Amino acid sequence: MNSQIYRTRRRLLAEQMQSGVAVIPTAPERVRNRDSHYPYRFDSYFHYLTGFTEPEAVLVLVAGDVPRSILFCREKNPEREVWDGFRHGPEAARDAFGFDEAHPIARLDEMMPKLLADQPSLYFHLGADSDWDARAVGWLNAVRAEVRNGVAAPAAIRDVRVLLDEMRLIKSAGEIAVMRRAAEISAVAHCRAMQQAKPGRYEYEIEAELLHEFRLQGAQAPAYPSIVAGGANACVLHYVDNSAVLRDGDLLLIDAACELDGYAADITRTFPVNGRFSPAQKDVYEMVLAAQAAAIATVKPGASWDAPHQAALKVLAQGMIDFGLSTGSVDAVLESGDYKCFYMHKTGHWLGMDVHDVGDYKRGGEWRKLEPGMVMTVEPGCYIRPAEGVPEHLWNIGIRIEDDVLVTNRAGEVLTEAASKTVREIEATMEAR
Ligand code: GLY
Ligand code: MN
Ligand code: MN
Repeated sequence: MNSQIYRTRRRLLAEQMQSGVAVIPTAPERVRNRDSHYPYRFDSYFHYLTGFTEPEAVLVLVAGDVPRSILFCREKNPEREVWDGFRHGPEAARDAFGFDEAHPIARLDEMMPKLLADQPSLYFHLGADSDWDARAVGWLNAVRAEVRNGVAAPAAIRDVRVLLDEMRLIKSAGEIAVMRRAAEISAVAHCRAMQQAKPGRYEYEIEAELLHEFRLQGAQAPAYPSIVAGGANACVLHYVDNSAVLRDGDLLLIDAACELDGYAADITRTFPVNGRFSPAQKDVYEMVLAAQAAAIATVKPGASWDAPHQAALKVLAQGMIDFGLSTGSVDAVLESGDYKCFYMHKTGHWLGMDVHDVGDYKRGGEWRKLEPGMVMTVEPGCYIRPAEGVPEHLWNIGIRIEDDVLVTNRAGEVLTEAASKTVREIEATMEAR
């Protein structure tokens, strides 16, 4: 994406603010242990507005008739650049990324009180980070200290995320193109995992196959910690140990996807370690697949956010009754919430720069309506732990099927369909190894 896209986003944000000053810092670098850092990942809001990937950077956006965007970033430092690599420095960053001004990050605390003087409001991510909160309070107090000199301090602090979340929720053609590619890479990685899995291999070996494919195709990182869960581990929703051996006759649930150029995919597939579903596994699998198909079929502009969840629940509740996991009518199972013993999460979330992306799910107390350009996951599941009264042949079957769905002008488009999904497709993919 070129700098014009980010300039346009900054202009749109400034237009919505009308007046005031927004301060949007990028993410800090974090020490993992002693001299080792966690892999650096910029802040999504900051990146959405700048495209700038260096740490220690802050965007200040002054709204008004002629909005100004100001970048604060690291200075050039030939010695540090020998160790850590290239830094733009303020001047080159201003020119390359289309800012009106740029200054060394060390000048931020000195310049902010001047930038906030006589401004009606500060737009800030208050409460997200206590260090930044303290700095913002410091700037405001510095402006207030000048009131006897005729300077007015901002009277309001507003949450800049309220405006940015809505902007980020509707994806542009450029963003959709990147998400399509992230989805495709992740889908190919799932097929690779299917072909590599067999009894006796370890969950981490299959995780390695996924990571291999992500990086080989140019994705920078996994979008979230990969879940590679064989057998009973599939019933632990956030299982990330990935340390167990894969056993003949078990299912393997994989929830893994890459992040490409700042955008996440999010895919889950569940398949038999030995390449053939047992009759019980197939029955539960096809129920979850039918729930997912019913959910995806509801996705279209104007539909309620909650429609896919309700559609999936109906199919799952009927299945649970059919399999002897629940008793009574579908309505009674839904009403009582009994299904939550076996399906305890929602059917999806927004997807974008963050895997659980920003955007409200309700507006004015009502589930919001889907609009073209929104991207969401559809991910029903069924997790059957051993328990009294639960038919034993279903114990430790844990299944989730998750795809990424773009709301188009007419319907939902599945971005992740290259990942084998029907029983027949999965068995064929595994057969071809
Ligand atoms: N992988 C995270 C999720 O499915 O929500
Ligand atoms: Mn998800
Ligand atoms: Mn997932």
